[in-house]
Formats: sequence, structure tokens, C-alpha cells
Amino acid sequence: MSERVAIFDTTLRDGEQSPGCSMNLEEKLRMARQLDALGVDVLEAGFPVASDDDFAAVREVAKICRRPVIAALCRTTPQDIERSWEALADAAHPRIHTFIATSDIHLQYKLQKTREEVLEMARSGVRLAKSFTNDVEFSAEDATRSDLDYLCQVIEAVIEEGATVVNIPDTVGYTIPSEYTHIIETLRQRVRNIDQAVISVHCHNDLGLAVANSLAAIAAGARQIECTINGIGERAGNASLEELVMALRVRRDLMPFESGIVTEELYRSSQTLSNITGVLVQPNKAVVGKNAFAHEAGIHQHGVLRNRLTYEIMTPESVGVKTNSIVLGKHSGRHALGKKYEEMGYTLGRPELDKAYKLFTKLADQKKEIFEEDLVAILQDGFAQIPERYKLRALEAKAGTAINASATVTILDTTNDQESTGTGTGDGPVNAVIEAIDRMTDLTGTLLDFNVRSITRGTDAVGEVFVHVEFGGTSYTGKAASTDIIDASARAYLNAVNKACYARERSRSAA
Ligand code: KIV
Ligand code: ZN
Repeated sequence: MSERVAIFDTTLRDGEQSPGCSMNLEEKLRMARQLDALGVDVLEAGFPVASDDDFAAVREVAKICRRPVIAALCRTTPQDIERSWEALADAAHPRIHTFIATSDIHLQYKLQKTREEVLEMARSGVRLAKSFTNDVEFSAEDATRSDLDYLCQVIEAVIEEGATVVNIPDTVGYTIPSEYTHIIETLRQRVRNIDQAVISVHCHNDLGLAVANSLAAIAAGARQIECTINGIGERAGNASLEELVMALRVRRDLMPFESGIVTEELYRSSQTLSNITGVLVQPNKAVVGKNAFAHEAGIHQHGVLRNRLTYEIMTPESVGVKTNSIVLGKHSGRHALGKKYEEMGYTLGRPELDKAYKLFTKLADQKKEIFEEDLVAILQDGFAQIPERYKLRALEAKAGTAINASATVTILDTTNDQESTGTGTGDGPVNAVIEAIDRMTDLTGTLLDFNVRSITRGTDAVGEVFVHVEFGGTSYTGKAASTDIIDASARAYLNAVNKACYARERSRSAA
């Protein structure tokens, strides 16, 4: 029988730290539910001492995800560890994940501590964490650039203090498979009590080797892999969960290890994350990219039609990509819509179905064919949890080669039920719309990023607009989908405005 490798997902912690990937609480909870459905063993939900938002994320994820272990990251100081434990109070299976750097370069320049001092901090951190819970993970940050004798010494000490998982991160994505193998093998040979803990690996992708390094470490004896959906994370990202899991599954002949991942949920997890953050998945991304199963060359198509094995090493279905997605149209009823959602794996209660149906009929008036991607977009956009302070009521935009762009926009302020109409001008219709909106809200935004993509097929495709907007020094994402790009832009911008208003309300009520 194959041995089990635990999948530790850090999308909500290391992943969320990366530029453009920040998520608000509601978005983190949506992602956490999806990670739970995906079957991850450990879900790292945040770094509670870092901010109140991180603290709330760990606490709320721990309440709603009862199956996986919920991990909270902390340094080795008492204040950090106590704060993590507080955030984990409601977890069914809590884990304190404490870390300190062990490389000389970090000791000298970042911590300004001696090896002896860091050894003692590692020991005392684990000892304190252990007084709260049995499940304690210790990470030796920058392990792969640490002196190997010293690393062995630290790992032996933290296991002595009761660490149940010892993580050997390649923090800066510097190692290569043969070196990482050597490090893991050395730890297994030299650390006297290594059999009392699980060895974990955590690889960054600076040289594009995160997945290869993680697999090498598994072959050398590691039994937990830390990774993220779509490989998001600091700098070049972390090891990609979907690539690791499918490599283990497709090449189980050479790597006889099982993960508990429901691979059919991989594509949905990838799309959910991309939809939340607005960070698009590159088309040629392994496993979950749009082209991962597309066969363009005639000779390939011919082969695949005769036998898929000619050019496909895994089926699209095995990662949750459906190949036959059209079906619903203008005349489809509520029942058919509910059934289709069920087929796609979403069970909607009556109020959710009513809401989805209303959005569906609106879309069906604009589009002949409704694809599965449209239905996912309905759920993800229509069900966003941020209170809509401002709603778009009407929009008229003019643009052309011989005129200056201008727009007239009407919005409803739901706090007093007042509609107002404003006008704006700009380089193009989107700028004009934004100027008009800014004149009616009490916020002025700076557009940092603007992205449009087609999320469905056909000439009447739905386009999705993502924006990153800065209001008073903090940036917010906004998104909306529509068959009309200017309409989607206005609603995406208002989505960011509403997030900024919501954050402002929350900080006022917390003060
Ligand atoms: O990359 C790293 O070293 C980390 C640790 C905190 C686990 O993210
Ligand atoms: Zn990391």
C-alpha cells in the first residue's frame, strides 16, 4: 500500500502575502471552504499577530472548517504564540506553526542573534506552543542556506521540546533537487529523534524548481508538502499544489505516495482563487491553465481523437475540467438551473437558487448560450459578501477618435436610498466613468491596475474586469462581469469603492 503524504496548504498565508493577492475576510472564507472541499490536510489560515484581519481570518476559518487541521503562523516570541493560540481557540484540530531563521545570513543581518540565542529561542517557542496544544510545527526559516550541522542541532532540540512536524523551508528558492535530497537524508541520519516528527518541506519557486525540489524531498523521506493553489506566494511563489498532486498521481509508478486531495476539485480551486484575487492563471500553466488540455496542432488532434493516451497523460475530467459545457439558454427554468449547478458540484438552497436564477435570466437576455463558466461567474459575482453601499443605476458613455470621452453615471447610495447623477471626462470611457463616480462618492481612487478578460466564449462573451484601486494609501481589488465592458468597468470600480467603504466602517466601529 502507498504511503500518505500530507498536503499543507498555505494559500491563505504565504500565498496571500504576495503582491496583488490580498483577500478580505469574506474572500478568505470562500477560499477556505473550497480548500476544505479539495481535501487539504492542513490549512494555514494566517499569521495572527501580523494584523487584526489575519487574526480574524484564522478565527473564522477555524469555526467553519472542521475537518482539516487549521494552522496559525507565529514567530517564537511569547506574544506571537499566545496570539496564535487565541485565534485558534475554536479550531477542531489546531496547530501552532512557529518559526525562526537558522541561516547565518539571517542571524547576522535580520535577527542580530548568535546561534546559541536562536537555538534557545527555538526551544522556548516550541515549549510554550506545546503547553497549549500537542500539534506543534517548527520551521527553520532559510534552512537550505543554513549550516547543516547547526540545522541538525536545532531540529533535534525542537523535537526534544515536542515539535510534531519539522519544516525545512527553501525560503529563497535557492536549492536544487540533489542538494535538497542530501539535506533531508542528512537530517534523517543525524538527528537522533527524527522518527518522532514528520519532516515537512516548503519550497519557493525563485528558480522554477519548487515542485521538483518538493518531489525530491518526498523521495528522500519528507511526508508533508507545503504549497499553494496556482503556486501563488512571496516573489516567484510557492510550490504549486495542483502540480505536486498531479505529479504524484500520474507518476505513482515511480513515486508510490497518496495524497488525500480530491483532484476533481483542482480546477475549481484554481478558478476560485483567480476569481477572488483577480490574478489570472497563465494559459500554459500546468494542470489548470486554459491550454493545459487544448490540442492545437492537427497531428496532435488526430492522435487524440484516435486515442487520448497519444498526447494526454491525464484526463481533463481528473482535474475537474469539463469538456462539454454548453446547455442552458433563455428558456431554461429554475429547476434545470438547480440541476445544472448540482451536476457542477454546487448544491444551492432555495434562496440562493432564486438569487442565481434572477441573475441567470438577466444574463440569458444578453447571451444566447450560457456556459458553465457563466454559471460560476454568477455565483462568484452575485454572491459577494461585501455590503453594496453604492449600486450602479444607469450609465452612458461616449468615446471616439474625434471626441473627448465623456460619461454620465447614476448611482444609488443604499445608506439613504438617494440616487445621484454625475458626469466625467477622460482619456477614454473608463476614465470618464471613474471620474464621474469619484465625484459622487466621498472617496477618490487612483487606478493602479486594470485588466479585462473574456470569461466565456462566443461573440457575445461575458468579459470580466478586474481593477486594483488605491484609496487613502490602501489598495482594494474590484471585479465585475458583463457583456458590456464599460458597464463591467463601472461595476468593478464600484466594487472596490464598496470594499473601501466597508473597511472604513469596520475600522470606525473597532475604534
Ligand atoms: O518561506 C518560509 O520560510 C516560510 C516559513 C515561515 C515557513 O514561509
Ligand atoms: Zn514561505
